[in-house]
Amino acid sequence: NTPKLIDPFAREINYLRVSVTDRCDFRCVYCMSENMTFLPKAELLTLEELDRLCSAFISQGVNKLRITGGEPLVRRGIMTFFQNMSRHLESGALGELTLTTNGSQLAKYADELAACGVKRINVSLDTLDTDKFARITRWGRLAQVLNGIDAALNAGLRVKINTVALKGFNEDELETLVRWCADRDMDLTFIEVMPMGDIGNEDRLDQYWSLKDLRARLAKTWDLIESDERSGGPARYVRLSQTNQKIGFITPLTHNFCESCNRVRLTCTGQLFQCLGQEDESDLRSVLRDNPDDDAPLIRAIHGAIATKPKGHDFDYSRQRADGQMTRHMSHTGG
Ligand code: GTP
Ligand code: 5AD
Ligand code: SF4
Repeated sequence: NTPKLIDPFAREINYLRVSVTDRCDFRCVYCMSENMTFLPKAELLTLEELDRLCSAFISQGVNKLRITGGEPLVRRGIMTFFQNMSRHLESGALGELTLTTNGSQLAKYADELAACGVKRINVSLDTLDTDKFARITRWGRLAQVLNGIDAALNAGLRVKINTVALKGFNEDELETLVRWCADRDMDLTFIEVMPMGDIGNEDRLDQYWSLKDLRARLAKTWDLIESDERSGGPARYVRLSQTNQKIGFITPLTHNFCESCNRVRLTCTGQLFQCLGQEDESDLRSVLRDNPDDDAPLIRAIHGAIATKPKGHDFDYSRQRADGQMTRHMSHTGG
């Protein structure tokens, strides 16, 4: 009779995404503004507090933990946190411990991650062109990320590349990206850009490239075989018969996947976001800090929070300039 977290729509919540920092060494244009103000250190949960919170979720049925950011690998001491979390893999309580990273620090950490029981990781990469990479990340060095990906592969990690589909930016690289991933036996997932964060002068709608179109483009070059494989996240997959590679589609705009949502997000300040595209949040940090020696109130608060999970997001470009735009940045909740 293991506990489970069930939301009001009978969805089982077994996937926790944990943002361990709001900081990042890049500033991807669709994710952060150029002059982000970051949280003061005192606001952050300590690694011990993060451990206690994650462990409480795991005790209630969470079996997949994804560490995110900002960029998770820039958080000081993060390897100690991974080492500590790996005890839940060893006990069998956790089925997967993983992370989503921009890859910049992988050359340094890939071996240690593998040693902590991480089996596969997702790396964000929108272009293979050095100049374009510097533009989209505002100053990132592509070579550093490519070295990081090599290090991950050499460490025996499975790597899935996440590419945000951006009109006028990486449309011309579709075939190159697919081939480059196939050569390295990596899966590739495309993501529709979501209207989050302040847009400033740029118009997100101008960049929006629906994955319906992208998929039709792919089908001109490759045979796409429908696949019912799932990875626990929102992606739906096809296999390319020529390369036997898995291609994923994350389509919050053209195909809402909320009805099978299995996840919630914890921020680095201990706020639990029920949905990426809604503002509902619960303050778990104060419950944690008010009850240093007793987890029962925390577990009650977790169940209470899940009981308020909304049905889904309402991203909508047609309302972008009115109220459809979320001002929260993606980096706040780790995507
Ligand atoms: P897998 O375990 O490989 O399936 O990973 P994942 O897709 O769950 O994790 P990843 O961090 O790679 O997520 C990729 C992106 O998908 C996120 O950064 C978000 O942009 C998007 N995404 C994930 N979950 C949701 C969700 O619940 N709603 C929306 N709108 N987007 C999501
Ligand atoms: N829309 C879609 N994906 C986004 N990401 C960041 N901001 C957005 C956005 N506005 C993606 C990153 C990375 C993941 C963590 O979230 O590219 O793959
Ligand atoms: Fe950093 Fe990832 Fe946001 Fe880019 S998408 S700025 S790499 S957190």
